[in-house]
Amino acid sequence: MRTARKVSGRRAGEAVAMHTNTTYLAPAGVDLEELDGEIAAMYRDVANETARDLHFPTGRGLAEALGYPADLLDQLPGGAVTSFAGVGYHLQLARLLAGERVLDLGSGSGMDAFAAAVQVGPMGLVAGIDITPEQLAKAELLNRDRHVTFVRGRIEALPFKDRSFDAVISNGVINLSPDKRTAFAEAARVLRPGGRLALSDIVTDQPIAARTVGHADLWAACIAGASQTGTYLEHIAAAGLELEELQTNPSYGFTSERAQRTSAKYGARSISLLALKPPHTNTTNTTNTTQEVSQ
Ligand SMILES: C[S@@+](CC[C@H](N)C(=O)[O-])C[C@H]1O[C@@H](n2cnc3c(N)ncnc32)[C@H](O)[C@@H]1O
Repeated sequence: MRTARKVSGRRAGEAVAMHTNTTYLAPAGVDLEELDGEIAAMYRDVANETARDLHFPTGRGLAEALGYPADLLDQLPGGAVTSFAGVGYHLQLARLLAGERVLDLGSGSGMDAFAAAVQVGPMGLVAGIDITPEQLAKAELLNRDRHVTFVRGRIEALPFKDRSFDAVISNGVINLSPDKRTAFAEAARVLRPGGRLALSDIVTDQPIAARTVGHADLWAACIAGASQTGTYLEHIAAAGLELEELQTNPSYGFTSERAQRTSAKYGARSISLLALKPPHTNTTNTTNTTQEVSQ
């Protein structure tokens, strides 16, 4: 009989320094320090429920509008649902099975990680990774599941061994990354052959103008960092993942007038997708720091 599996190693609240040799590049005009600061401040306020005048919606009303079943939301910690800041519902694409190992990239206050934990059950495991201490602290506080773990770190330098997960999920996060190509390569690396990447994110029809890319607050709001759909899908293919399904989520919309204007200008929209890692692939370990996902 199988026993519950755990993610061992660094926990939320421990040092973010990744001791990694994975390097990532920022687009021209993006000040990485300013961007990190803006993301940290915005998602600190989302976690603390102190955010005012956000560019984007949050909470249970958003989750229901995106398609989360009410009976699934009812099983999740209320505080995680309140701080939900995703852009789509992709768990129906992920088709998680009992006993599977799942990684949530940019897990925020933990809503999707807790939802995945319901689906994989106590014989599976779920790890969430995020850079914002307050998001991680809230998720940890709400966590009642021994098979759920939250880790502080960057999605561009995942602290996990190759082939550690059956599924990688993510909601509204990869658009925030200054190096999406590396983020997808890392997701592919930690997936087992045959594993799935299921995510929701913001993409655009038009390339974002350089002057808009430099607006760290609009980047942190999931607009200015968004890639054109074609570029986004190229990054996924370059990571060795094969696109299986792609859908647009018309029920997602930005809330501030400025964000609505910018998203209309560039054709920004929410998508959900499923991509597979082919069953027979070799990936190389690009990081020094690795955590075991052990049985
Ligand atoms: C729009 S929120 C979505 C959070 C969560 N997925 C949800 O659906 O509520 C984006 C999250 O990604 C995290 N984040 C942004 N850039 C990141 C990066 N490079 N590595 C890890 N986490 C990141 C932020 O701290 C924030 O919690």
